[in-house]
Amino acid sequence: MSQSKAVVQKYARATRLLHHIHTAAFIILFITGLVLFIPQLGFLAQDSWTRIVHRLAAVVFIVAPIVYLVMKPKAALRAVADACTWGTEDVGWLKAAPRYYFLCDEEGMPAQGHMNTGQKLWWFLVIVFGAVFIVTGLVMWFLKTVAPAGLLQWMVFAHDVAFIVTGAMVFVHVYLGVIHPMMTEAWQAISKGTVSEEYAKSHHGLWYHEQVKEENTAPPPEPKEVVEVH
Ligand code: HEM
Repeated sequence: MSQSKAVVQKYARATRLLHHIHTAAFIILFITGLVLFIPQLGFLAQDSWTRIVHRLAAVVFIVAPIVYLVMKPKAALRAVADACTWGTEDVGWLKAAPRYYFLCDEEGMPAQGHMNTGQKLWWFLVIVFGAVFIVTGLVMWFLKTVAPAGLLQWMVFAHDVAFIVTGAMVFVHVYLGVIHPMMTEAWQAISKGTVSEEYAKSHHGLWYHEQVKEENTAPPPEPKEVVEVH
């Protein structure tokens, strides 16, 4: 059977740009954080430079989503709303996920929206731990000399917990996005912005059919202005 070559737009350019900038900032924060976390790695970098680079990357990590929110408020709020909207398909995903991801068994996996349940969980993680990083990091940065020692210790502890949890989850995210045999076009979606129609139907069926419905109910396009040539 011949496969359809049609593609569907999944992520807009601005969304992809935010993803890549945030990822780059996270990687720099992770590496410089690792050097600060494991003193024995200090030989890899000069201590003060690690701290400066960590702070510079933190600024990018904080500012990039704010710029996105200001420039694309609708898209940003829609994504948050998507991540927070849970239905029966999410319960079905949770039940079917072990067989789907470990045995590549699609039976029992309900149709998903633009974000599948795993992606919604990833969003929660990013929002919750992103906030922990920012609050604790800013306290360590700006209130180091005035905050009580006990509070600072808690800030370092929470920053470290977020570092360990997100560090571990990033591997899962990369594995599912780039390597897993069922998620063949996830990387294409975030790098080029599109997925094939086949993939959209099989992996994000609810969203795909919603799109088709919208296209079918949209008013016909305005007739193009006809320029008469004499
Ligand atoms: C986003 C905002 C962030 C801010 C404002 C921030 C700020 C800071 C500051 C001020 C320090 C103390 C550095 C020093 O000793 O001078 C620190 C340490 C550290 N940061 Fe961040 N950071 C942020 C995000 C991250 C992220 C995303 C990661 C890792 C993925 C990370 C991992 C670490 C680690 C592991 C340490 C060492 C803590 C320790 O000494 O045990 N940080 N951060």
